[in-house]
Amino acid sequence: MLVDNIGELVTNTDGAGGPLGIRRDAALLVEDGQVAWIGPARDAPAADRRIDADGAAVLPGFVDSHAHLVFAGDRAAEFAARMAGQPYTGGGIRTTVGATRAAADDELRATVRRLREEALRQGTTTIEIKSGYGLTVADEARSLRIAAEFSEDTTFLGAHVVPAEYADRPDDYVGMVCGPMLAAAAPHARWIDVFCERGAFDVDHARAILACGQAVGLGVRVHANQLGPGPGVQLGVELGAASVDHCTHLSDADVDALASTTIGCMCADGRHTSTVATLLPGAEFSTRSPYPDARRLLDAGVTVALATDCNPGSSYTSSMPFCIALAVREMRMTPAEAVWAATAGGARALRRDDVGVLRPGARADLIVLDAPSHLHLAYRPGVPLIRQVLQNGVPQCRS
Ligand code: NIG
Ligand code: FE
Repeated sequence: MLVDNIGELVTNTDGAGGPLGIRRDAALLVEDGQVAWIGPARDAPAADRRIDADGAAVLPGFVDSHAHLVFAGDRAAEFAARMAGQPYTGGGIRTTVGATRAAADDELRATVRRLREEALRQGTTTIEIKSGYGLTVADEARSLRIAAEFSEDTTFLGAHVVPAEYADRPDDYVGMVCGPMLAAAAPHARWIDVFCERGAFDVDHARAILACGQAVGLGVRVHANQLGPGPGVQLGVELGAASVDHCTHLSDADVDALASTTIGCMCADGRHTSTVATLLPGAEFSTRSPYPDARRLLDAGVTVALATDCNPGSSYTSSMPFCIALAVREMRMTPAEAVWAATAGGARALRRDDVGVLRPGARADLIVLDAPSHLHLAYRPGVPLIRQVLQNGVPQCRS
């Protein structure tokens, strides 16, 4: 299949065309689910089928590297209370834990499917999915089993909060997470994550849990420095985390630690091993909190990703275009930086080189915009600009 007549093609490959590797008047050939060729439209090879982009912009599909999709119920009333002045504390997580434990498998599966399809219609072709609203051995294992039906990038977040039944014995809960819960979860997970924050898990518990996950082959990610300053970011760097997420309250030492991971971060095989700062502006929007200082991170040389944090408490959006618009308007990212962070940045946060980029051999995950340029994603906030989505080279339903 040939995607032809592309006015602006964002490739995210090095070379000419700035950081987004933009090519004008281009065409792209898809074969067996992969990008087979990219070049000037006038040199386009023949193909069985053709999509006419009609001069529009074509980008890699969005890579949403942080989402909590396995849950039941919603917390709209908590949102309304926040908008009337209540602060966000994370305490509402236990409300969702109760609803999730009570839900049947098919109810959870239907919610994940609904949100996955909602995200796909908005251009998200890769999405990470966390557990974290089960918090028993059986409920974490089933959350991950269901998540794995929808994503290759599943994350065990048994250490989201200490559930109510363990409130006065957190050491016992940590022992359980590292023991039977990890054993049941690991076969269905690629990653392990901990909410390292006052009121959730302290640095010693977080380190112990992440180290247990690493020992059974899971990659590390951390919810860090969301609600206040803390040790989470530096713990992530210490453990070689692929990503530290939120990064709303950072010290100079946190920024320096993240920046240090980008020095010599490319392995001989071309894979990147830096610790990415994944910013989640939907959470600050929905909790009416100050946004993270993306400019400070970028100027220090830190690799930045943008993701939705889609969850029923702090950020009930599946929209990467919304996050891009927030990042540009509220976090002083340029439109190009925000688009890179939502595509290639997300791929780095998942340590993947097959998505977030359009080059021969990459997955043919791409979006055709109803607009001539990537700039319109921030310039036209709230407007459904995703005209067409190809996932693994397969055209999805038009939105
Ligand atoms: O990433 N911070 C911890 N976890 C989620 C919030 C979960 C919730 O409020 O239900 C987050 O924001
Ligand atoms: Fe989160």
